[in-house]
Amino acid sequence: MSKGNSQTMLKKFAILGAAGDLTSRLLLPALANLLQDGRLPDGFEVVGVGLEPLTTESFQQHIKEALAEFAAPTPEEVRNRLVKMLSYVHADVTDAEALKKALKPAEGPLVVYLALPAPVFEPAVKAIAAAGVGQDSRIVIEKPHGTDLEGTQALDALLSKTYTEDSVFRIDHFLGKQTVQNVLGLRFANRLFEPLWTGEHIERVDIRWDETLTLEGRASYYDRAGALRDMLQNHLLQILCMIAMEPPASLSERDLRDKKVEVLRNVRDLSPNDVKRQTVRARYTAGTIGERKVPSYVDEQGVKPERDTETFAQITLHIDTWRWGGVPFVLRSGKALGDTRQEAAVTFREVPALTLWHDSTPQPNVLRLRLRPDELSLDLNLNGAGDPFVLEPAELGLKLAPQEMGAYARLLLDILEGDNTLSIRADEAEEAWRIMTPILDAWKADEVPMQEYPAGSEFEPKTS
Ligand code: BG6
Repeated sequence: MSKGNSQTMLKKFAILGAAGDLTSRLLLPALANLLQDGRLPDGFEVVGVGLEPLTTESFQQHIKEALAEFAAPTPEEVRNRLVKMLSYVHADVTDAEALKKALKPAEGPLVVYLALPAPVFEPAVKAIAAAGVGQDSRIVIEKPHGTDLEGTQALDALLSKTYTEDSVFRIDHFLGKQTVQNVLGLRFANRLFEPLWTGEHIERVDIRWDETLTLEGRASYYDRAGALRDMLQNHLLQILCMIAMEPPASLSERDLRDKKVEVLRNVRDLSPNDVKRQTVRARYTAGTIGERKVPSYVDEQGVKPERDTETFAQITLHIDTWRWGGVPFVLRSGKALGDTRQEAAVTFREVPALTLWHDSTPQPNVLRLRLRPDELSLDLNLNGAGDPFVLEPAELGLKLAPQEMGAYARLLLDILEGDNTLSIRADEAEEAWRIMTPILDAWKADEVPMQEYPAGSEFEPKTS
């Protein structure tokens, strides 16, 4: 994808909330990836800041162990070099004076990564600005970008007081996944698909992210978020944008992001009745996933049943444009399911009902973009091997080469280089929350019943 903006490569990377899971599981392994590839600039340093009472030595030790677990393919020598670049300051990230000492913004621009829970974004941004971090620095907001529309608008208004949109990066690591990026190549670099890419030929689009993972120790975050905020509001809507967008004039950040936000703007508001008919929330009960016994979600450590958090969400959206009129886009994601099915499936309409095939009916063509493993496939109908007048289903498949750079590494490099192409713009984040608002409100008011599924099952929800 484009390397749109040519900006200065920054050398200092501060992580607020550095003792958390995101830092050790994703951010530092991604930086190790970049260091190994020789992509980090000379003099690169990482400053961790947080309320956990760590020293630089204990932080380094903690990260060293985490890298051995989560960045194992990176040679030990590289991991050790990265560990030496780390320091830690024990400070309150909402205290401007403390941040000024920790980040030393007077020494030059830096990346400030907010690896924090969404409710802390606002006070942290106030403190960062008051500490003197200017707009030549880059502020990175981890997803979910807020918890609702109002909160996100307030955060964006606050950010825009000190920072230009170019210096704000809202992360969605799905945009760093090669199959998601490949939607553009597939659609706009092949004559084959684009003429058929309309409601006239496409019947429905299913974007699905089923996981066998459960909470993995993330209750303090997940129990407040739930599947809708964790997956659909951001990752799955981004995939929808890539599939539904009009052709951009270029892959520059402006053209690409304009086209994505146009899709979101045209997603129809769900009425209270639509929410009842077109959305499903559910939660897993005790079960077995493979060999693993899993307790009921409400009995998982750190879960408060009164929060009524869903571990599965499914919604059907419509895009009110000429191209997409009448085509349902079904987004679904759930934890603790029996299988990992992670794909976008585009189902084409049936061929005209001819009498050519006496004994068999052609199945609809389905184009699948699988995200894990990265694969493309197309279901076709062919004449059978035995009787040429009987149809047999066939699949045209392509395995994509393993992704050269991990999704987080791709995005962190873009941030260091100042390229916003793969980051979410403020208007995009707000539109995504606008779509979710009626659903969040109705679910909170208990207007859509919470369904249940045993952990490890193939859940097909009841829809009204
Ligand atoms: C994260 C979600 O953003 O994406 C997780 O918080 C989810 O709940 C994960 O499991 C899926 O993405 P990946 O790339 O880590 O499989």
